[in-house]
Amino acid sequence: MPKDSNGQIIPGTLSAALAVAPGIRRPEYVGKAAPSPYEGDNVYDTDAIERIRNAGRIASGALDAVGAALRPGMTTAEVDAIGHDYVTSHGAYPSTLGYRGYPKSSCTSLNEIICHGIPDDTVIEDGDILNVDITAFLEGVHGDTNRMFMLPGVSQDVSDLVERTEESLRRGMKAVAPGRQVNVIGRAIESYAKRFGYGVVRDFTGHGVGTNFHSGLIIPHYDSAPQYDDIMEVGMVFTIEPMLTLGTHEWNMWDDNWTVVTKDASWTAQFEHTIVVTETGAEILTLS
Ligand code: MF3
Ligand code: CO
Ligand code: CO
Repeated sequence: MPKDSNGQIIPGTLSAALAVAPGIRRPEYVGKAAPSPYEGDNVYDTDAIERIRNAGRIASGALDAVGAALRPGMTTAEVDAIGHDYVTSHGAYPSTLGYRGYPKSSCTSLNEIICHGIPDDTVIEDGDILNVDITAFLEGVHGDTNRMFMLPGVSQDVSDLVERTEESLRRGMKAVAPGRQVNVIGRAIESYAKRFGYGVVRDFTGHGVGTNFHSGLIIPHYDSAPQYDDIMEVGMVFTIEPMLTLGTHEWNMWDDNWTVVTKDASWTAQFEHTIVVTETGAEILTLS
């Protein structure tokens, strides 16, 4: 029962959690209600950055595997299984599985779902757009990335939204430089998105990532100044993950307490990379 008579997505049925071999190291939060509070900062040495890159490469490779297999008629649970199998067969743990009770190995956000869609028996159809968000935990660190997949038959307005959302991520990354406040990233994203009249989601943000899935550092995707004035430093690692919509930036939460949808059911796109701040800008850590 993927869509109602207006074509809007409604909750489907969840399948059982997928298994992870016992030899794969779990993050500390698995089996607990919430992660332990993060004590460290967001700056990493070369060795740790290399480990985040290795985790990020697996997450990105899992998205490549999804892209190669995706066909209309597949369910979001089938997409999740492809990502799960890729991550675990590369020796990593899918970070979302058991994170604050989240039941699946990826987030699959279709059409008007902004983020955190839970894979279920919803069938992906021609004309749909799907965000898949995968985080891999390897050697004690997380790499977090997401991207959009367009099914055949997407309208021009929607494909423009998808392309411009990716461009907004590139512009956000270009604003990264040591010594600047993190809110310059959001300013770059929002000023680009506003040209097209897009909604810019404010309440879901980028975040510090590395030892912890979400470190507490917030990276806004809108011009939040003077808020979010953390100064970027060389070696700082965080995600940038703008969500743009064809309508409002306002959202509703489903009763599952995860799925975030646009209040006006307008379609929405997101792209995410984990990056490290270098002397010269941002270097992406989530490439295949
Ligand atoms: N990967 C998502 C992010 O970009 C977080 C998902 S948390 C989950 O931060 F629990 F919803 F999976
Ligand atoms: Co993230
Ligand atoms: Co993510």
